[in-house]
Amino acid sequence: MIGGSILLRTRLVPVAIVLLLASGAQGKSPPETELQMGERLVQVLDCNICHSPKVFTPQGPRPDATRLLSGHPAGVRLPAIPKGVIGPEAWGGLHDNNMTAWAGPWGVSFATNLTPDNETGIGVWTEEMFVNAIRKGKHMGVARPILPPMPWQAYSHLSDEELRAVFVYLKSLPPIKNEVPAPLPPTK
Ligand code: HEC
Repeated sequence: MIGGSILLRTRLVPVAIVLLLASGAQGKSPPETELQMGERLVQVLDCNICHSPKVFTPQGPRPDATRLLSGHPAGVRLPAIPKGVIGPEAWGGLHDNNMTAWAGPWGVSFATNLTPDNETGIGVWTEEMFVNAIRKGKHMGVARPILPPMPWQAYSHLSDEELRAVFVYLKSLPPIKNEVPAPLPPTK
């Protein structure tokens, strides 16, 4: 009886190992959903570095997990930009502590609210508007040119499938009401 069960076990162990190995060999992770692809692309392309308000840490600004992708926070007072600090012989550009306001020869641009709030974010945006904004570098896909440092030229190389996935992911975020200011023209 005892001998029999040992025999059973010794036979079953190799079988179990073979089954485990086989399931590991073909058991690749399940295919990525569109939402997962969108989330991964937003991480890899680091939309947070510019579009999320930050908390200030010893390593510098880090995305504030409670307000991800909600754009430059309304009502923040920006420090003055010293004259002559930006130029061909000086600095190429500056950003504020949130890394959502960017000063350069183009003036000051403010990273937009990418959460699906209807009034202040992309709540009413269609996929076509989003794709055109990224591909053509036009505000809302049709209007004024999108200012630096939004890297739309780089992102315009994303496939239709990838752009759609990013849009689907952004639309799935919790909507955050935050009215981002309009860009400021250059001061001379
Ligand atoms: C290096 C900083 C930076 C990064 C990285 C960045 N953005 Fe932007 N983005 C900006 C700024 C600044 C603006 C505002 C430009 C303006 O007002 O013309 C902007 C504008 C936009 C707009 C245009 C909204 C409109 O006015 O029509 C969209 C859409 C957008 N970003 C999406 C994204 C997505 C999606 C990612 C990641 C895949 C991303 N951005 C990454 C800085 C950035």
